[in-house]
Amino acid sequence: MTIKLNYNTTNILDNTLEEGVRKLLYECKKEETYNHCKNVAEMNVKIAKMFNLDIEACKNAGYLHDIGAIVSLNEMSKYAKENFSYIDNAEEKYPFILHQRISKIISKEVFKIEDIRVLDAIECHTTLKSNPSKYDMSLFIADKLAWDQENVPPFYNEVEKALSISLEKASLTYINYIIDNNVILCPHKWILDAKKYLESIVEKNF
Ligand SMILES: [Fe+2]
Ligand SMILES: [Fe+2]
Repeated sequence: MTIKLNYNTTNILDNTLEEGVRKLLYECKKEETYNHCKNVAEMNVKIAKMFNLDIEACKNAGYLHDIGAIVSLNEMSKYAKENFSYIDNAEEKYPFILHQRISKIISKEVFKIEDIRVLDAIECHTTLKSNPSKYDMSLFIADKLAWDQENVPPFYNEVEKALSISLEKASLTYINYIIDNNVILCPHKWILDAKKYLESIVEKNF
């Protein structure tokens, strides 16, 4: 089912993707989300250069990853109940987490993104998942390191250091930080799957 938006999205692709994202987020009074997305896109391009990933794909994933912010929590829950075969307990309790899956749908339906690397990365940018691709991990990390406020979060240096070794180590370092420090109130199954998977490969290979 197509997602219902209360905003005019015709001509959204007349200019660049960045411009379309800016137009839509500004129209929805989500200027801060736009600034965050721009920062994440820049960080994701930096990571793409470090790990030889496709720069355009990483830039687009950054710009679009939080586009679901234009949908209300009620609307997200309603759409999820009608369309998703699996809804996690964490998503039931905290519907905000659904924004990663909703952002993927808007990227596909409104911004006509077909690159599966971009769509998949957007879909799991908050939780990651088991056996993540380099693009999934890159966006996951870029979202956490693109910090535009004065005080950087306590995990920043550790994750940045791990990133100089591998995307896998950086992802696991961040996940362990939020689990060990009880930063997540109700862990989504996907993040626990990601932790298990990354633990099984990081020691051996990275
Ligand atoms: Fe997000
Ligand atoms: Fe984000």
